Formats: sequence, C-alpha cells, structure tokens
Amino acid sequence: MKEDILNYLKENKEEYLSGEYLSGVFGVTRAAIWKVIKQLEKEGYVIESKTKLGYRLAASPDLLNAYEIKSNLQTKRLGKNIHYFEEINSTNDYAKEVARKSFDDGDIVLAESQIGGRGRFARLWVSPPRKGIYMSILLKPQMTFENITQLTLFTALAVCEALEEYLKMDFEIKWPNDILLNHKKVCGILTEISGEVEKINHVIVGIGINVNVEEDDLDDLLKQTATSLRIETGLIQNRVLIVQKILTIFDKYYDDYLSGASFEDILIKYKGKLKIINQTIDIKIHHNEPVTGTVLDICDNGALKVRLSDGKVREFLSGEVSLSKN
Ligand code: BTN
Repeated sequence: MKEDILNYLKENKEEYLSGEYLSGVFGVTRAAIWKVIKQLEKEGYVIESKTKLGYRLAASPDLLNAYEIKSNLQTKRLGKNIHYFEEINSTNDYAKEVARKSFDDGDIVLAESQIGGRGRFARLWVSPPRKGIYMSILLKPQMTFENITQLTLFTALAVCEALEEYLKMDFEIKWPNDILLNHKKVCGILTEISGEVEKINHVIVGIGINVNVEEDDLDDLLKQTATSLRIETGLIQNRVLIVQKILTIFDKYYDDYLSGASFEDILIKYKGKLKIINQTIDIKIHHNEPVTGTVLDICDNGALKVRLSDGKVREFLSGEVSLSKN
C-alpha cells in the first residue's frame, strides 16, 4: 500500500490530497494513511501537510530504492524485481546468491554503499554511502561464451549513452568497459559469468559509477586516474535518473541482442566512443608484463586487435589498457 500511496502522491504533485480523500481511494482508515505518510517522511520524502487541505509530495530523496527506480520506468525485462540495501558487502556477491536460488531475467541488486565492493583484477571498488551507483544486473541469456564479449561492449555503450543523455557531456569508453569523463574514470563494469562452454547459466553485470563522490573519498593514487560526475561538474547529480536511463537503454540493447539483431550498429557506436584506435598502448593480461602495440580495430566479437611492436597482429579478449608512455 505504501508504494501505491507514494505513486499516487507523485502523480498528483500539484495538489493537496486530504486524508479523507486518500482513505477513500485506498479503502483504508485516515489513521492508516497518516501512518504511511509518517513512514515516508522517515525515509526522506518531504511531504507538506496543510490543515483542511491535506498532503502534497514536495520532494523525493535521492535513494535508489525500488519505489524510486520503478517510478515511470518503462522496460521489458530490467528492474521488474529490485533487491535494495542500505549497505551490503558487494552487490555482485549478493546477485550470485540470488542466482543460486531463482530469479527473473533482468533482476537488479542496488545498494547505497558497499563494504567489499569489487573491481576487476581483484581491486577494491570505493563505495561511499549514497554517493555512487552500485548496481548488479542479473541476466540469463540463451547464449554461448563466445558471444559474451558483445554483452560487455553493449553494457559499456548503454552506460555511456545514459550518462551522455543525462549530463549532455561527452564520455569516452576505455576498452573494454571503463567509462571516462575528461580522461578520468567515472565508471567501471565487472561482468561475472557462470556456466559451461556450451551454455551460460547466468551473467552478473556489476556497474559502479562515481556520481556524487567527492575528492576526499578518493586516495591520492586513485585521484590521478579517477573522478566523479560531481567533481567534474561541481554539482550534485541525481542518481535515480541515471539508473533509470541506464536500465532503459540497456533493456533495449539486451532485447535486440536476444532477438538476434545485427551487432554492427552497436559496434559502430561503440567504436565512436573509443579514443584508442591508432594509438600506441600497453596492454596487461593478468599479472603478466604489459605488451606494447598499436590498436588497429575492435573485432566483431569485441576483441581488441593490436599490432605488436614485433609486427605481429594479435587479438585480445580481455586485458587492461593504458596509453603507452614510450
Ligand atoms: C572495475 O574494476 O572497473 C569494475 C568495477 C565494478 C564495481 C561494481 S560496483 C557494483 C558491483 N558490485 C561489486 O562488488 N562490483 C561491481
């Protein structure tokens, strides 16, 4: 009932609605309505109440809970079920637990903070409370391991396009799926897959975005390569709107992907966001020494095609890229 009353208040933001009127709409007592209003206020909703007139929703908190995310969300699969936490170890770890039981394609795990947020290469993902987006998307696509890099690429593209649409600024993708603003990282994606070569059981796409993270949240080393939307714009940004935009765009790309649409369009758009084509880069795989080469292209399967310094051409399916200082 709380969700329904909240939606009703949202839809009628312009007017005051009396307790009596609301009790009629929802078929409950005025006391029950009052109780819900108090609960909502406790959660951070600002509700103006005027004697004789009633209640009016003046502002919603920037919380990533299911009510906020689902409000006006028009997706086919993503976000039908949302698991929301004030604090969690890692949304990807929780998503794994959910996947072991049962879930619907497109279920979401969202948290306001993570104690053990994980990045690629076993790094820690700094996840201060209510300042970032820490989200995992659970998928059960009918596909083989071969096509999984494509999913990684369109995830990066969806997040990049969502951020561009929201901020009206240009973002850049660093292969395979870091998103940069003004040459510094604002978003990282950790995709974890479970299954056998022939058949994938589930995929967990973990997305971390530094939205309202401040300079003090980043240590000196991290500050050299990472930033946040707030640091770059000087303004506090709306996390709910960003999550909704990501889910909407991702939902569309995922639907196309499942229905076997050509990957060509995605690849063209993806390449348009990459700045490393024709650049000399160092690429590091696991703990090996980095190798240097010139980026030639992105292959249809999402691999990075590089001409190494010895002239040989190699395709990399994963790795960490940085612009070469040589
Ligand atoms: C990277 O190293 O660039 C990937 C970072 C991924 C961080 C996100 S935050 C939500 C999800 N839960 C995690 O523990 N990690 C991912």
